[in-house]
Amino acid sequence: MSLRNICINQYNAAIIQWKNQSVLSTVGLTRNKLDALYYLTNFIRLQKPNELLSICRGNVVGLMFMEPSTRTLVSFSAAIQRLGGSAVNLIGSESSIVKGETLRDTARCLEQYCDIIVVRHPLQGSVAEMASVCKRPIINAGDGIGEHPTQALLDLYTILNEPCPKDKLGQGQLQISFIGDMHNGRTVHSLVRLLAAYDPMAFHIRYITPDQSLRMPSEIISELKTLGLTQSEHISMYDKDVLRNTDVLYVTRVQKERFIDMTTYERVKESFHINKASLSKFAKADSIIVMHPLPRNGEIDEDLDNDPRSVYFTQMRNGMYVRMALLTAILETKDLSIY
Ligand code: NCD
Repeated sequence: MSLRNICINQYNAAIIQWKNQSVLSTVGLTRNKLDALYYLTNFIRLQKPNELLSICRGNVVGLMFMEPSTRTLVSFSAAIQRLGGSAVNLIGSESSIVKGETLRDTARCLEQYCDIIVVRHPLQGSVAEMASVCKRPIINAGDGIGEHPTQALLDLYTILNEPCPKDKLGQGQLQISFIGDMHNGRTVHSLVRLLAAYDPMAFHIRYITPDQSLRMPSEIISELKTLGLTQSEHISMYDKDVLRNTDVLYVTRVQKERFIDMTTYERVKESFHINKASLSKFAKADSIIVMHPLPRNGEIDEDLDNDPRSVYFTQMRNGMYVRMALLTAILETKDLSIY
């Protein structure tokens, strides 16, 4: 497949739906928008690197990260460079925010230099606040315990592209069990909303939280119930219902930095652990996939890293392609039909 053969209609569909838009949450995304984005992702993934270099030539992405990041920061930076554009970094602790500049003024500044701005900030709602005054599109790369929509986009893309969940989705409901810190885990907050947006009837969701402090916020459970997504809560992954039905096990770390009471953190930090032995107890042990947004703090044993059921490294790579597609569609820099 070459750029010459791209299905222009599909490409245009992605552009029309994403062009110039901020991505702050997975709420409100539609199946059409997702299909168009994933079409573009598949297309980009199949190209030779030098065939992509004119897509975003001349474009500059501003990366403003006020919380630590490895995957999100580097994959956005790699994504724009693979599309022929460039990235500039604003490190929070070295910026004028330290001198008292507001987030809104920081947004008004970055829009002068950048075509799109990617922001990570410890405060829920802060990225939306910047977007409310910014003339350029803003991507939420994680706002405290709020959301992390592009992680959810790459997670769903991975689920749709792994053979076992893909087959299962074709036949009926896919059963996804989330284990870990549902209270503070923004990746899960975004992903469950995205599953509901994609097709609420296609999934059954289980939240496994070994401690009260880790439970999914009840507002999110109610919000998704209204949309028709079926969900259940469990204390242990060895619950019979979980063991019998899980197709996808999505693990998250306990988010130490979000705990005010460290005694609670100490109590819960090692309350679950996944390794080959624990996976063998699942009824679908041969076909289950294990996902994790990473970083991990010991909750997934390294003995699983080379196991074909572990897809957390695939998730990382997919993240770059999904972000390349997103930048291409939002920036709408080139009509690929000219190739
Ligand atoms: C996550 C994040 O920052 O929310 N990581 C990521 O972006 N891949 C998950 C986490 O920090 O636990």
